[in-house]
Amino acid sequence: MGFANKIVIVTGAGRGIGYCIALTYAAQGAKVVIAEKDQALGEAALSSIRDFGGEAIFCPTDVTNPDEIKHLMTQTAAAYHRLDILINNAGMGITKSPYELTVDQWDLVLNTNLRGAFLCSREAAKIMRRQGGGAIVNIASTRAFMSEANTEAYSASKGGIIALTHALAVSLAPDKIRVNSISPGWIETGDYAELREIDHLQHPAGRVGIPDDIARACLFLTHDDNGFITGANIMIDGGMTRKMIYEP
Ligand SMILES: NC(=O)c1ccc[n+]([C@@H]2O[C@H](COP(=O)([O-])OP(=O)(O)OC[C@H]3O[C@@H](n4cnc5c(N)ncnc54)[C@H](O)[C@@H]3O)[C@@H](O)[C@H]2O)c1
Repeated sequence: MGFANKIVIVTGAGRGIGYCIALTYAAQGAKVVIAEKDQALGEAALSSIRDFGGEAIFCPTDVTNPDEIKHLMTQTAAAYHRLDILINNAGMGITKSPYELTVDQWDLVLNTNLRGAFLCSREAAKIMRRQGGGAIVNIASTRAFMSEANTEAYSASKGGIIALTHALAVSLAPDKIRVNSISPGWIETGDYAELREIDHLQHPAGRVGIPDDIARACLFLTHDDNGFITGANIMIDGGMTRKMIYEP
């Protein structure tokens, strides 16, 4: 597949989509840097990769902390002397009425999802440009484009990621760094067997998504053969954002 010995950082790789992305790159022969704030989850992800003979290191990182992001990049350069791919996956949300959301809660969501992606990209780009290029994928959300109630901070952060992606794609192009985003819809990271029939059938694709749907798109966007793709956003939502919904 072309990922042997590529160096890949995945933020929020301790569970869910990020965990799947990390394992997918490792299975393709890449060397993965697990950037995760939860110590136990990070160590478990590291063990999972090493269990099947993959190569990885765990750098405990909270992406809301600019110093920890710099440390992540220093550790990566010290371990592997290069960085080919960054997946900005770490994210969180707070569902709360806009009348009640506190400034600290707004800042936490924005600093995790949006500022974290910007700072990780900037620090990663400093390594990538020295070696002649690289690829960055930002995990946004279909909620950048449509909403349920009481999701202002999350939706704004993900809308910001779409804009950050095209801005960085242009700024970093002279350094041969491509920047794209993926907007997942409903990706089930819990017990898939617990989902109801209506959960699946409301999707034009006939099923709820799985983390592997996102991991495969990361491989596609970061593959050297796809060098013409930059500044793009891929919606991976089983068609939900293309479905017109009127009440019967
Ligand atoms: N699951 C979905 O349906 C879905 C849909 C659209 C977008 N997304 C996005 O995909 C990404 C992953 O989602 P998920 O469902 O796997 O989430 P998750 O909550 O299952 O996992 C998130 C991981 O990120 C880590 N993390 C959180 N804050 C962090 C921080 N400040 N620094 C470092 N690590 C941090 C968590 O510890 C956890 O391991 C997120 O950006 C999310 O917004 C998910």
